[in-house]
Amino acid sequence: MTKLFFLISLIFVLITFTSQLEKQKPPTAAHTELTNYGFPIGLLPSSVKSYTFNQTSGEFSVELGGACKITLPPDNYLAMYSKRVSGKIVEGRIAELDGIRVRAFFKWWSITGISSSGDNLVFEVGMITAKYPSKNFDESPQCEGKHSSS
Ligand SMILES: *[C@@H]1O[C@H](CO)[C@@H](O)[C@H](O)[C@H]1NC(C)=O
Repeated sequence: MTKLFFLISLIFVLITFTSQLEKQKPPTAAHTELTNYGFPIGLLPSSVKSYTFNQTSGEFSVELGGACKITLPPDNYLAMYSKRVSGKIVEGRIAELDGIRVRAFFKWWSITGISSSGDNLVFEVGMITAKYPSKNFDESPQCEGKHSSS
């Protein structure tokens, strides 16, 4: 009887543990700020060192440890984050974005804005837009190339 109870407890602990792993918590305050404005944490790599934010104007600046390379889901576009990423954020919209580029058609393109509409994120590259489900950005990615940058 006690053995059975022990086994059931163990299974319960394992289930709780794995379900907690699935819901990743925002790694930094900058990520939490993203969620406050209706964006998923996966838009920023986990290597945020510091950030400044003017709540009145929405202007922000995020310092990463260094330039950061990430493969973006779901189409595996290569994205390059500069050491400093800045822009202007309001509910559901990031404008005047500077510091994120994606590689497509043999060129680097600057992502100039991102909108959040319902379950989708709309990325703007100048006049061109591309829509992706937000759920692809539920986790904050690690920078590639370096094993440990901190
Ligand atoms: C924040 O933005 C407002 C409006 O643009 C500006 O007046 C203010 O000086 C800014 N504050 C800081 C600390 O930069």
